[in-house]
Amino acid sequence: MRTRLTERLGIALPILQAPMAGVSTPAMAAAVSNAGGLGAVALGAGTADQARQAMAAVRAATNRPFGVNLFTHAPAVRDVAREAGWLDRLQPVFAEFGVEPPQSLTELYRSFNEDDAMLAAVVEARPPVVSCHFGLPAPNRVAAIKAYGGFLLVSATTVAEARTAEAAGADAVVAQGYEAGGHRGTHGLDDEAIGSFALVPQIAAAVSVPVVCAGGVADGRGIVAALALGAEAVQIGTAYVACPESAAAAPYRALLADAARSARTGVTAAISGRPARSIRTRFVDELGPHEAAAPAYPVAYDAGKALAAAAGANGSPEFAAVWAGQHVIPDRTLPAAELTRHLMADAAAVLSRLASHVVHGPVTWADAESWLARYGIAWEGGDVDLLVSLFTQDARYIEKPFDPPLDGRDAIATYWGEGARDTQRDVSFTADVWSVVDGVVLAGWAAQFVRLPSGVQVSLDGVFRLRLQRDPGGAVLCSELREWWYKQEGG
Ligand SMILES: Cc1cc2nc3c(=O)[nH]c(=O)nc-3n(C[C@H](O)[C@H](O)[C@H](O)COP(=O)(O)O)c2cc1C
Repeated sequence: MRTRLTERLGIALPILQAPMAGVSTPAMAAAVSNAGGLGAVALGAGTADQARQAMAAVRAATNRPFGVNLFTHAPAVRDVAREAGWLDRLQPVFAEFGVEPPQSLTELYRSFNEDDAMLAAVVEARPPVVSCHFGLPAPNRVAAIKAYGGFLLVSATTVAEARTAEAAGADAVVAQGYEAGGHRGTHGLDDEAIGSFALVPQIAAAVSVPVVCAGGVADGRGIVAALALGAEAVQIGTAYVACPESAAAAPYRALLADAARSARTGVTAAISGRPARSIRTRFVDELGPHEAAAPAYPVAYDAGKALAAAAGANGSPEFAAVWAGQHVIPDRTLPAAELTRHLMADAAAVLSRLASHVVHGPVTWADAESWLARYGIAWEGGDVDLLVSLFTQDARYIEKPFDPPLDGRDAIATYWGEGARDTQRDVSFTADVWSVVDGVVLAGWAAQFVRLPSGVQVSLDGVFRLRLQRDPGGAVLCSELREWWYKQEGG
């Protein structure tokens, strides 16, 4: 499946594995890239040295394009009183696990916009794709990435954010819907909470760069839907968490695999200081309502991680950050490469299933006449097979002596130019029918047309057969053609 974005990134599949701090690994990124998608490592929560190691590890395992991800949040504004108040609030929970809360909190990691060592590591390693989450990269970051030929992705959760991302130099926008697992990529702290289904088409209409749909995509149906909404690729996170290459701990995997638990997720800023979607743990349910009192990101995360460690040491996963989106498939634990291939095969199957549903469109006699005129074919009336073939777009004319077979419109023109109608000989060609008439898909199935002396036999994906009889009178013929397709939809 090819899109403008897959072409620009040099990847075969429109699937981006989401960079996931603490979860994705170089092994995962390389496996996805080797399978034809775009693997990525998350560098946002680490140091420049860790970033160097991660990028080198990916490079050692693949020579395909890959991405790295950085956090471009506004640096935390420290508020000692607020931080102390938050620790007080958490104190009873720490006490439950027999642990004292930390005395004070630290800003766990720096924004890429302030971290010159990280910028140097990235420029030195020259990863083909750099993505930024939580806001715009500073102009000098954008310039440095572009200067070495890097492709820049920026997350957006609203149309306004997508526009500013494009204006700031993003080569593509990751439209992150509210379904998404993990941190919301909001540029500020306000969250419009727009789902992928509404967000992607609006962003696709608002920007001219390619759009990637992130959030809620877990199978082929999601991929096809995202592309239909205007995305040119998907970015999938939650589905990769269960892969053997992921760094997710066993209790995290167990919660994901528990259908009753993973079906319930919620967004809270209580864990890290920024809104993020997690499985509904006690952290989400009990501390989520107090999120407005949490310190700034990532200072709050220092407290959250300390609490997770205290609870974890006592065998409880209830205070860990178990990021997950709204679409979890609990019983799927494929290796990353296999998952990537499976997702794509599933998308292809969905496309062909969809195609077999689409059986009619507003066929008018004027439509048919314009096709006839375009290929210079004289209409003598009654040739349903001629009409059907004109509404195909990717025909294959397989009759000898055309070896290799003729494809596309050439096949149709040659078929009719050969005088097939006059000779009444048996000729067959296969066609992917993807005709769009007045913006509506007319038909979209893999079809085989076999010309018979008495008319045309059309077998659609081998599912059913339709015998079209010749019928005099163009206008009547068209409406009847539509009628036949209506009938076939039912049976
Ligand atoms: C465990 C986890 C960690 C994540 N960490 C990051 C991250 O470090 N950087 C980032 O840009 N996005 C991160 N995300 C968000 C993803 O990029 C993406 O928006 C999201 O996973 C898509 O929705 P889905 O989870 O429904 O597939 C994370 C998501 C998950 C599930």
